[in-house]
Amino acid sequence: MKSITLSSPGGLEHLSLNNSAEPGAPGPGQMRVRIHACSLNYHDYAVVVGAIQTEDQRIPMADGAGVVEAIGEGVSEFKVGDHVVSTFFPEWLTGSAPIDNFSTTPGDGQNGYAREQVVRSTNWFTHAPKGYTHAEAATLTTAGLTAWRALVVNGGLKAGDTVLTLGTGGVSVFALQFAKLMGARVISTSSSDEKLERLKALGADHTINYKTTPAWGARVQELTNGVGVDHVIEVGGPGTLPESIDAVRIGGHIALIGVLTGRAGDIPTAKLMAKQARLQGLIVGSRTHQQEMIRAIEVNGMHPILDRSFALEDIADAFRHEESGKHFGKICLEF
Ligand SMILES: NC(=O)c1ccc[n+]([C@@H]2O[C@H](COP(=O)([O-])OP(=O)(O)OC[C@H]3O[C@@H](n4cnc5c(N)ncnc54)[C@H](OP(=O)(O)O)[C@@H]3O)[C@@H](O)[C@H]2O)c1
Repeated sequence: MKSITLSSPGGLEHLSLNNSAEPGAPGPGQMRVRIHACSLNYHDYAVVVGAIQTEDQRIPMADGAGVVEAIGEGVSEFKVGDHVVSTFFPEWLTGSAPIDNFSTTPGDGQNGYAREQVVRSTNWFTHAPKGYTHAEAATLTTAGLTAWRALVVNGGLKAGDTVLTLGTGGVSVFALQFAKLMGARVISTSSSDEKLERLKALGADHTINYKTTPAWGARVQELTNGVGVDHVIEVGGPGTLPESIDAVRIGGHIALIGVLTGRAGDIPTAKLMAKQARLQGLIVGSRTHQQEMIRAIEVNGMHPILDRSFALEDIADAFRHEESGKHFGKICLEF
């Protein structure tokens, strides 16, 4: 079978296509899945360029979707032919988060899904939404579930709430879609006027260009009559958090998700305290969260926004496309 491996110390030039042995029959509690699609995330990018160090010859990609080919003894949740999608934390099934690192995450601490077949315990997958293509399903593992957990699980989003999304990456576009399907008002930012038009077409009620309006926190206050937003999908980190604190309402919620502007910085903690806002870090979610998100998707008929797909062997080009920042929504590999 074809697979992609990453040689140490990382870098796109260290990704290579291999022909390796097929994985064999699944053991008790396991299944063999033929992977047909992966989706790209900023985390996968950090691994393949060597910004996050991993084991030599690691198979990258956290998000994989495909079809069950064979099941082992005792498996009743899945049958041959089922469409499935991978989970980000295979051992976090339900309840509160038991882990603060990526040691169990496919494509980082474990081998991922840039390969044609895999044998895993069934808890490494859930059913995919009915009617989804494999590429659509693959977008749910990381970006979809992060947006869902931020808004619905941690944020307790309700109809009538106002949500602020930053930029047009995978997580932010999913957050816009989930917020709209749950009846919220959405304010979205981007560096590109063309992308702002696309956000409006997806239902954004107000848009702000964060390059031409660097004090976008104040603009959010104007748009909300001086109240601020109930939820911020904070994917930027230290470079955007001061504006997000300006934008949030008193007692609101900031979901601290990303590091697009860096890993540490100067944050106005006194202002955050005065706002009495809740700043909550999160990493993706549990298998149960994923099943709940998929139930909501099926009931509402929501489909993710796909940017573009590449072949497995063109994985480096796919990451170059992500690096260019030209994308809107999810970039995928399909094979
Ligand atoms: N904690 C978690 O569980 C979790 C899960 C997934 C992702 N993340 C993190 O979330 C971040 C986004 O991930 P992603 O996969 O959605 O990324 P992505 O698809 O690569 O998105 C990148 C987009 O972010 C926007 N952006 C860049 N700098 C920005 C800034 N200063 N202000 C506002 N927007 C900015 C740009 O949008 P425009 O082109 O529109 O300007 C860019 O296209 C990353 O740091 C990632 O590691 C965390």
